[in-house]
Amino acid sequence: MHLYHVQDKTVVVVDILRATSCMTTAFAHGIESITPFAKLEDCLGKKPLGFFTAGERDGKKVEGFDLGNSPFEYMDPKLKGKKIAFTTTNGTQAIEKSRTAKEVIIGSFLNLSSVVRYLLFGKNNILIVCAGWKGKVNLEDTLFAGAVVDKLKDFIEPDCDAPLAAQHLYNLAKDDMVKFLSTSSHVKRLAKLNIHKDIAFCLTPDQYQVVPVLKNGLLTA
Ligand code: MLT
Repeated sequence: MHLYHVQDKTVVVVDILRATSCMTTAFAHGIESITPFAKLEDCLGKKPLGFFTAGERDGKKVEGFDLGNSPFEYMDPKLKGKKIAFTTTNGTQAIEKSRTAKEVIIGSFLNLSSVVRYLLFGKNNILIVCAGWKGKVNLEDTLFAGAVVDKLKDFIEPDCDAPLAAQHLYNLAKDDMVKFLSTSSHVKRLAKLNIHKDIAFCLTPDQYQVVPVLKNGLLTA
């Protein structure tokens, strides 16, 4: 992040497995807002104010929280119109690091085309912030970045080779992303927690047409 001047950019925060996929799913199912937090205590502090508390640490639901980090939990009709306070190991940290950007939006394969359309009609340069894992690179976020680059290739010029590398990887992976990611670090980590069905779902493009946008610390669709 320190290499980029985010103040004049639209930042797309991406944590495919699974934070930004959960956020996209939640808005597609009628959640009113999501307040992202970097710290667990700050998130928990919202509970007495009527928020649902949600998220994970190291992939596991946090004790005392209402919701974990599976997109299927965010399809529950009882969440419609409700407010969520959300904290995750990497996804909400990436949002926190992006706060000073001109615009921050949430990307996932689930809303891929809507994100691409939003960026195409926007006026700002773009930075895709891949949450990764505790500061390290992961494949799934890179594939999403590559998918965006690929879809925008006729309209937008990459600023360095990182977008090109992501695009090449995406083109290698796109016919079977589940298989491509089978030996990746977070897929293995989730498998150890017996989490399997979230992966295929989070890698399914264009399930939803929402674009969550961050304004004054609050995500709305
Ligand atoms: C994160 O924010 O680190 C992830 O969403 C972890 C997870 O898969 O639960």
